[in-house]
Amino acid sequence: MEVTCWLIALFVILLLAFAFVHYMTSSHGIFEKLGIDIPPKSPVLGHFGHSLKYGVFDVQTVFYKQFKDKKVYGWYDTRTPILVVKDLDMIKDILVKNFNYFVDRRVPMEHDEPFRDNLLTLRGDRWKHVRISVSPTFSSGRIKKMSPHIERNAKILLGNLKEKQESGQEVELKEMCGFFALDTIASIAFGIDINTLKNPENKFAQETKKITNPNPLLFAIAVFFPVLAPWLTRFGLPFFPNKSMKYLASVVDSVIAARKRDGTEGTVNDFLDLVTSEAQEQGVKERLSLSEIHAQSIIFIFGGLETISTVMSFTLFLLAVHPECLERAQKEVDEKIGKDFPCFENVQNLHYLDMCINEAIRMVPPGIFLDRQCVESIDINGVHIPKGMVVLIPVYAIHNDPSFWPEPEKFDPERFTPENKETRHPYSYLPFGQGPRNCIGMRLALMELKIAIAAVLQRYTLVPSSKTVYPFHLSKIQARTTDGAWVKINPRK
Ligand code: HEM
Repeated sequence: MEVTCWLIALFVILLLAFAFVHYMTSSHGIFEKLGIDIPPKSPVLGHFGHSLKYGVFDVQTVFYKQFKDKKVYGWYDTRTPILVVKDLDMIKDILVKNFNYFVDRRVPMEHDEPFRDNLLTLRGDRWKHVRISVSPTFSSGRIKKMSPHIERNAKILLGNLKEKQESGQEVELKEMCGFFALDTIASIAFGIDINTLKNPENKFAQETKKITNPNPLLFAIAVFFPVLAPWLTRFGLPFFPNKSMKYLASVVDSVIAARKRDGTEGTVNDFLDLVTSEAQEQGVKERLSLSEIHAQSIIFIFGGLETISTVMSFTLFLLAVHPECLERAQKEVDEKIGKDFPCFENVQNLHYLDMCINEAIRMVPPGIFLDRQCVESIDINGVHIPKGMVVLIPVYAIHNDPSFWPEPEKFDPERFTPENKETRHPYSYLPFGQGPRNCIGMRLALMELKIAIAAVLQRYTLVPSSKTVYPFHLSKIQARTTDGAWVKINPRK
């Protein structure tokens, strides 16, 4: 009897193991059939081991170099085949010319309300409707209206820096810029004022932290078994904690209700005001539902928190370790802005600062790669791309390819003079993506970065401190340095 039980147990284990291996490998082999090269892979986990070994940045550059003369190569993200496209003309075809074949992104799992209708993960016609409806809110005129909120938060940042400087403390820029980015999102997208550095326990910051650090077990399931991911949501185990999402939606609801009650609708000029009030009617072709408004407010957290804090901290850090560039940027701020506070209008003239920001995003693009999912089979440049294939564009590797960017590890803002820009293929620089599905927040982001960085440079000189590590080492999983971005700040005379 006991032997029979053992045999049954063994049989079940073998069956499960067989089912697991079959599931993991059933889509392997597609690149071999298509005649596309791949790096050597593990039989079950595909190239997952390479991602663990090299990390998100180096895994791109290692194989980008290995397939130097190829337009494309293949990759198995555990069981999911990924076509990596290196050829810049093909990239243009995918992102722009044949966009209709590549409308969607790879979405490992569906989301519940209130995050369901967000622009980043929506597909097909639902995405088109929301993109068309929300685009006017990011026009130049609307960004100008939002800019006083950025200025107010830049002043809070300066107050916090002053305290650090007066008490002789060194500053870790990623953390400090993270506080500024979060305060700005709270005020632009949720209509509330917070000072996270002073009140780290405030509920908005706490709930935001929860959704930006999702449960590692659910994360692992989504990576290894993407097919199970939609079921997690259905069984009440969403990837992002639902309570936190609901809290954020309730902030939006109460702000909208309070403005209706006080009659202040249409006067506050933040994102919420512009998407809800009559003031935006003119430019809007289709109105957003309340659920769509919730999701777009929340997307500011995913689109504009890590990205802004990364670019802002790397720009300031790289200026601190390149005093000649810092001096030139400060001189420009002094000449073009003088003693005025940086604002929408006057930062338009900061061309050198713009070059410094561009160069920092080139070196460390927060969007490490772009991806699209092919919705209809197509042949591009002699490569057959079947329906369903995920296409990845290795932005970090392209930004560090010496054939486009000589000495790529060197911080050199001169690469972005108008003359030098002319000499390069436009698709060798993709920090905000390209085509109809590019970053909708790009202009707002650049405005926010310029106002905040100019405000800092007007008052402080950043210098390396005892904790500064340069050249920096990038973390294996995120666009940040392993040793922090430490500097000391001195008041300007
Ligand atoms: C320096 C800051 C930022 C960087 C580097 C950045 C980068 C990117 C990149 C690379 C993409 C993918 C583009 C593509 O697939 O072609 C993207 C998409 C997106 N970004 Fe940004 N982003 C930044 C700031 C922001 C901000 C402030 C927002 C605020 C709303 C935002 C909202 C979005 C949204 C909603 C999408 C998805 C657009 C769509 O699918 O239609 N981003 N961003």
